[in-house]
Parts: sequence; structure tokens; C-alpha cells
Amino acid sequence: MPALDWRPMRAHDIGGVIDVARASFPDHFEARACFEERLALFPQGCLVLAQAEAVKGYVIAYPWPKGAIPPLNSLLGQLPDARDSFYLHDLALHPDVRGQGHASPAVEQVARELRAAGGHEFALVSVNGTKGFWRSMGFDPVAASADIQRKLESYGEGAAYMIRKL
Ligand SMILES: CC(C)(COP(=O)(O)OP(=O)(O)OC[C@H]1O[C@@H](n2cnc3c(N)ncnc32)[C@H](O)[C@@H]1OP(=O)(O)O)[C@@H](O)C(=O)NCCC(=O)NCCS
Repeated sequence: MPALDWRPMRAHDIGGVIDVARASFPDHFEARACFEERLALFPQGCLVLAQAEAVKGYVIAYPWPKGAIPPLNSLLGQLPDARDSFYLHDLALHPDVRGQGHASPAVEQVARELRAAGGHEFALVSVNGTKGFWRSMGFDPVAASADIQRKLESYGEGAAYMIRKL
């Protein structure tokens, strides 16, 4: 059986990434163009968990101002010039490979990339009841502004804005 390892995402991985996204975020559709754009804009923040050419998981992160949540299913156009705060847009594993310890290496590997790019912290929106998981990865929920709170409502019950130092 070929090894299952995290490696940089490439353009030909996008189809497999979308399959994992559809299985992981059934209520939050994002178009193929969004995945392609994130990879084009900030490839250092995009990794896949691959077994030979099969994609079993992915992580996407990019520079984004602290305290702001990027719109879902939208093209960003361009990224901010600042490289101190980052946003972890998605971490998802195919259901077959969950619970096997693959999540933490992805978080640490992407954290190293973001640190190398000049980052001091990264944030995310916890969904799918993953607050405890993200706490175990070093993220803490932060008090959300009224604007963030409004946006969180569209992410479903229990969504939380969380931050971790890099
Ligand atoms: C979230 C996700 C990536 C986690 O991957 P996973 O393989 O299930 O995670 P693991 O089982 O390796 O857990 C990693 C660690 O977090 C802990 N953990 C997992 N879920 C937890 C929870 N709900 N509460 C507290 N700790 C949790 C595990 O105990 C483990 O700790 P350990 O390393 O000390 O043993 C995976 O479940 C997934 O893809 N879910 C669907 C997509 C999703 O919701 N992504 C997050 C969106 S914000």
C-alpha cells in the first residue's frame, strides 16, 4: 500500500480536493474556481494528504486580516499584502482516514509554512462541532465583534472564531 503523506497541493489535485470538501462540508458548497484561486494565490498554504495520486485530505490557508472572515464560495481577487495574520480556510479528511492522527501533522506543517512567510498567528472558523478538536490543536475561541458574530450565524450552530499563535 503506498504511503499516505502530506505534500504541497498541485493543480491536478483539485478534483480530489473537491471530492473531500463535498463529503466534509455538505452545507457549505464552494465552487471549483475558489479552490483553484486559493492554490494560485498562495500555494505555500495548500497541502494535500495523498496516497500515490489519490487525495485523502487537504488544508488551505492564506494571509487574511485578524478579526475578519473571508466570504464563503467567493473569489478573493487578491490577498492582503500583510503577512502577519493568516486564515485557515479548510482542513478536511476523507471519512476513511479520520481518527488516525493525520490532522495534527497538517496543522503543524501549514503552521511552519505560515511562520516562514512571516506570520505571527492564524485564525479559523470552527464548524461541524470541532471546537474541542481545534482547542487540542492550540486554538482558542476569541470574543467576536458584532460583524463577525453575524457572519458566524451563516456557518451553523456552534460556529466559533478561533486563533492560535504561530
Ligand atoms: C476535523 C478533522 C480534520 C479531524 O481529523 P481527525 O482525523 O478526525 O482527527 P484526529 O482523530 O487525528 O484527532 C486529532 C486530535 O484531536 C483530538 N480530537 C478530535 N476530535 C476532538 C473533539 N471533538 N474534541 C476534543 N478533541 C478532539 C483527538 O483526540 C486527537 O488528539 P490526540 O492527538 O491527542 O490523540 C476531521 O474530523 C474532518 O475532516 N472533519 C470534517 C471536516 C471538518 O469539520 N473540518 C474542520 C472544519 S473547521
